[in-house]
Amino acid sequence: MPKWQALYYDEPIAIDHGEGRYVWDAEGKRYLDFFGGILTTISGHGVPEVVEAIRDQASKLLHSSTLYLIPNAIELAEQIASLSPIPNAKVFFATSGTEAVEAALMLATSARRSNQVLALRNSYHGRSFATVAVTGNRGWSATGLSPFQVAFVQNGYRYRSPFRDLPDDAFITACAEDLRNIIETGTAGDIACLIAEPIQGVGGFTVPPDGFFAAMKAVLDEYGILFIADEVQTGWGRTGEHFWGIEAHNVVPDAIVFAKGIGNGLSLAGVVAQPELMDSLPANSISTFGGNPLVTAGALANLRYILDHDLQGNAREVGGQLIQRLQALAGEAVAVGDVRGKGLMIGVELVEPGSTRPSAAAAGRVLEACREGGLLVGKGGLYGNVLRISPALSLTPAEADEGYAILESAIQGSG
Ligand SMILES: Cc1ncc(COP(=O)(O)O)c(C=O)c1O
Repeated sequence: MPKWQALYYDEPIAIDHGEGRYVWDAEGKRYLDFFGGILTTISGHGVPEVVEAIRDQASKLLHSSTLYLIPNAIELAEQIASLSPIPNAKVFFATSGTEAVEAALMLATSARRSNQVLALRNSYHGRSFATVAVTGNRGWSATGLSPFQVAFVQNGYRYRSPFRDLPDDAFITACAEDLRNIIETGTAGDIACLIAEPIQGVGGFTVPPDGFFAAMKAVLDEYGILFIADEVQTGWGRTGEHFWGIEAHNVVPDAIVFAKGIGNGLSLAGVVAQPELMDSLPANSISTFGGNPLVTAGALANLRYILDHDLQGNAREVGGQLIQRLQALAGEAVAVGDVRGKGLMIGVELVEPGSTRPSAAAAGRVLEACREGGLLVGKGGLYGNVLRISPALSLTPAEADEGYAILESAIQGSG
């Protein structure tokens, strides 16, 4: 396998099986899973209702292709459309976040007949040519070849923003004015879209102030620029207060990209878009595996589980308490520069003591110490110095306590 497909830990681990919020490695050691397969196992490992649905469908039919009706896919599309804030939305299914972002970018650039795109600094949207082109993070930009002309705009990441000391309203205005300035000075004007993660995932769970994207969209609207929300990490109740991350901004995007959590581990992704935009492609387009009978059966059961068990409410409660405890810890631990997040999407930014200088070394030490203590956490941020905490939304208060205790001692010992 390629060396650019990086592994965590000095001594990498192989995950053998999981149950609930725990996984076991091939040597039998148990870990509390605070990364959830990169925010994917949203309901938990081995959820019986989801496993049963997959098992039943596997014995019935795995694949037929979108040339024939797939009842599970139709039902799921209807449910996702009605859960989305986009009126009369249509849904296209793909197999990965990358493929779904590609589809959304193809829709916007076709509809607007323009290859000019705006993206946020420090963004991550996938691994293909088009998605790397809109990725604003050097560590994930493997090529400069691009199908687009891309201009990168302010992302609302206050801790490392030139506007960091401004109060929320002035901060938002400064970012929106900067967007206008980039449109006027760095583009040819007829821009297709802005693509943005409501909370940046790989970028280190950076959270802009609520209302940030409303101000950005007001500028976009002046120029007829479409707005795509990449909810690959923030969707399905992850942020606790809303079902979609973008809803914190009181704004309706033209398209939403989804992936990860909907399949609880199955390869399912897609785009929800307003109908004229979705139907704007001037040629046939197909994803052979997208929305196949197996993944959509699992996703339907998973979505039912998310809604029936109010996992969003649990993320708000349990995640809210965890954020508060970590913020209190930030006051004591010199290596913690910033704690931020919503629901069960929590970033802990590690710095050199007494400064805002990023410390990737401290993040590496904490990751190893957590692993030793039986806890898996993620890492991210432009400088690889942000811990990413994103367990299944079914996390119990006792599991949150257990994880916090391991994290606390790992952070205290890292400085
Ligand atoms: C916001 C966002 N968009 C797109 C992607 C790409 O998804 P995938 O890895 O499924 O292709 C990711 C993956 O982490 C992501 O976080």
